Amino acid sequence: MCGIVGYVGDKPALPILMDKLQMLTYRGYDSAGVAVSENGHFYVEKTKGRVSDLAAVIEPDRATGSIGLGHTRWATHGEPSTANAHPHLDCTGRLAVVQNGIVENFWELKQELIEKGHHFKSETDTEVIAHLIEEYYDGNITTAVNLAMQRMVGSMALLVVHKDEEDRLIAAKMDSPPLIIGFGRGENHVASDIPALLRYTNRIYPLEDGEIATIKRDDVIITNFKEPNTPRLYDRKVMVVTWSTEVAQKEGYENFMLKEIHEQPETVDATLRGRLPEHGDGPVRIPELNLTPEEVQRLERLTFVACGTAYHACLVAKYLFEQALRIPVTVDVGSEYRYRKPMLGKNEMLVAISQSGETADTIASMREGMEQGAKVLAITNVLGSSIARLADGVLYTRAGPEMAVASTKAFVGQLIGVHLLLQYIAQYRPIAPEMRDQIIALRPHLWRLPAQIRHILADTTQIQTIAQKISTKDACFFIGRNMDEPLAREGALKLKEISYIHSQGYAAGELKHGTLALLDEGVPVIALATQGSVYDKMVSNVQEVLARHAWAVGVVQEGDQRLSSLVGRENIIEIPKTHDWVAPILTSVPMQLLSYYGAYALGRDIDQPRNLAKSVTVE
Ligand code: AGP
Repeated sequence: MCGIVGYVGDKPALPILMDKLQMLTYRGYDSAGVAVSENGHFYVEKTKGRVSDLAAVIEPDRATGSIGLGHTRWATHGEPSTANAHPHLDCTGRLAVVQNGIVENFWELKQELIEKGHHFKSETDTEVIAHLIEEYYDGNITTAVNLAMQRMVGSMALLVVHKDEEDRLIAAKMDSPPLIIGFGRGENHVASDIPALLRYTNRIYPLEDGEIATIKRDDVIITNFKEPNTPRLYDRKVMVVTWSTEVAQKEGYENFMLKEIHEQPETVDATLRGRLPEHGDGPVRIPELNLTPEEVQRLERLTFVACGTAYHACLVAKYLFEQALRIPVTVDVGSEYRYRKPMLGKNEMLVAISQSGETADTIASMREGMEQGAKVLAITNVLGSSIARLADGVLYTRAGPEMAVASTKAFVGQLIGVHLLLQYIAQYRPIAPEMRDQIIALRPHLWRLPAQIRHILADTTQIQTIAQKISTKDACFFIGRNMDEPLAREGALKLKEISYIHSQGYAAGELKHGTLALLDEGVPVIALATQGSVYDKMVSNVQEVLARHAWAVGVVQEGDQRLSSLVGRENIIEIPKTHDWVAPILTSVPMQLLSYYGAYALGRDIDQPRNLAKSVTVE
């Protein structure tokens, strides 16, 4: 997720671009850059760091032109650096491009362009776009962008300016990343999100998939590159926005946590895209993982280490890898791992999971693994983070910046990362055909997740009602078995960290070993029962709970009968039907929503709960 801005009008572009970039830093902030064109001269400045770091190096008197574009980055290809910062130029330095999204076939296009003599300065997929447009440029920048868009595969929004056509910006959108035109008087604006426009205009047009806009200061022409080469003018559906800037940064959501919960379909799609084939049993591609087939074949054990929510992702990984691949897995929290004098064999790997990539206890665990000569991988959300740089190989979750302290979309991204790691390792392991088929059969279930998460989010009434009732209680228990056990822990962590209600997540079979003593009239027990192999056991556990007159809530897959009849439909939360091994990703969503609506009912500070930090960079 990155931030794109553009301006064409009768004022100096630079201050407007910088102001708009500042409004978009919540979309990405690891590097930034601008390009301003005037009288056939480009002023391009870019730097690693935040928009404020860019402002510190800019020379305003060198950039007085009234057309330009800017970018604030959240890296997906190529770690944060000045060279990888946008804008990217073509060989001639006559056109500049900024992009948000992923060009899935950038590698093939890059090889083709190198063979045609193009020289590259960065590792990014965006620079490929600049050279591809250059390849097609023949005096009309709109046509060149149109032709380039037809060659690319992926999900992207981009903005282009060419020195030889200084009266126009070209905006183009393929698939999901947003790109919005703002209509001014004698000037027009472009931005990835509404907040960056509101200071200048409230009349907007969000580009749609396939559309290309040729934006001049007093005119906007919209065509569509997916039409057979007959560009058509499109009637603009100009919208008038009434949001405040602050509200717009949350895209109308009341806080970042709810916004980020609703971004999870995009997180799943972005993390899978370009790595896991959407159909069939084709190869899984994760080049940045830096893991050879030989290393996979030699692998005897995996150790997963993390903290907090990320630790719960490790627990899911244990169940998944041991059941699906029969590889032994050890799991530990970062704060304990190195102090228990762990032993890592030469054919073992350590996998660290971390949203921020800066958690001190997780970093220390990685160093312990490296000192013992193990290969260390990371699943993280932040390119260029300490953990990303320390690891021998990385699998990036493409969740975009997670602003709320409570980890939601990053957790779902981590679970997708664990599944991608399973698919990647499985393709090189000498396993039985039926085991391979079983793992391949997970793929359609993974690709169905974005729609299924949207289905859950479409009607949260039942969850809200249950959450509001929980908010009146002093304690809450989450119980589960097999892959539901880590989700019980996650549900408890979510609830306690933002509602401050005492919550515990337990292996359901442990109830009679102590916890039952705490159950009494009306005490809430959230029973996660999505795993078919242990469903009957869960029903028995719920009967134990009800026998103590506690309040049992069941979390089940759609179509459940027995638990629903036992606890009553009003105490059931359903997730869409899916494979048991994929279910934890869907179960995450009601766990997040129960905590969210419980905390909301109590009037808590949802994005910034007391005593907590987004990233714990101290031991
Ligand atoms: C989860 O909601 C918390 N914010 C916390 O447990 C977090 O998961 C933990 O601190 C690990 O952070 P990391 O993923 O950035 O390493």
